[in-house]
Amino acid sequence: MFLNTKLTEMIHEILIPIIKPGDTIVDATVGNGFDTLFLAKAVGHQGKVIGFDIQEKAIENAKKRLGSEGLLERVSLIHDSHSNIDQYVFQPIGGAMFNLGYLPGGSEEIITKAESTIKALEKTAYLLSRGGFITIISYWGHPGGKEEKEAVEQFLNELDNKAFITAKFNFLNRSGSPPIIYLVQKL
Ligand SMILES: C[S@@+](CC[C@H](N)C(=O)[O-])C[C@H]1O[C@@H](n2cnc3c(N)ncnc32)[C@H](O)[C@@H]1O
Repeated sequence: MFLNTKLTEMIHEILIPIIKPGDTIVDATVGNGFDTLFLAKAVGHQGKVIGFDIQEKAIENAKKRLGSEGLLERVSLIHDSHSNIDQYVFQPIGGAMFNLGYLPGGSEEIITKAESTIKALEKTAYLLSRGGFITIISYWGHPGGKEEKEAVEQFLNELDNKAFITAKFNFLNRSGSPPIIYLVQKL
């Protein structure tokens, strides 16, 4: 059932008809590499995935995952903050995924933060080709999460509506601090 699946899988379902073979897509938060692997399959052998993470452990985990599937060739894994995306990506991109929060199974203290997330979103929006997308999952129950969520929401509210459509998917009857999905598309 669609609404009862993992949020990351929901995003994958949304993106399957949107990502085209040969696209260049950014995974802004590689983590354990599950999204990177999904993207590497979706872009096909002529496509490219560029992944960022500030944790060496995340880059290593992802490298192993992609290597075991024989897909490392179409992926560049960059051990740096996504806020420096403009130092690595110079061509228009088909899309980008941001899966905010901390590395599952890793330190809960190493989290994505409002300032670098917004810097990265600004630069990524600028890199999007026409029709290109950004997906953001905001897990915001941890310390610092609410501040980041509010910054993301303000950024998306203020994004030029002649150039971008922005949207928000919110669970209404889930307890706690249910994650939020934000979607952006360049017109
Ligand atoms: C929720 S996890 C991502 C999960 C991942 N998409 C997966 O499939 O396993 C968030 C990741 O963002 C990383 N991160 C935190 N700050 C970052 C930054 N400024 N730039 C890039 N990655 C960052 C963390 O190290 C963590 O691995």
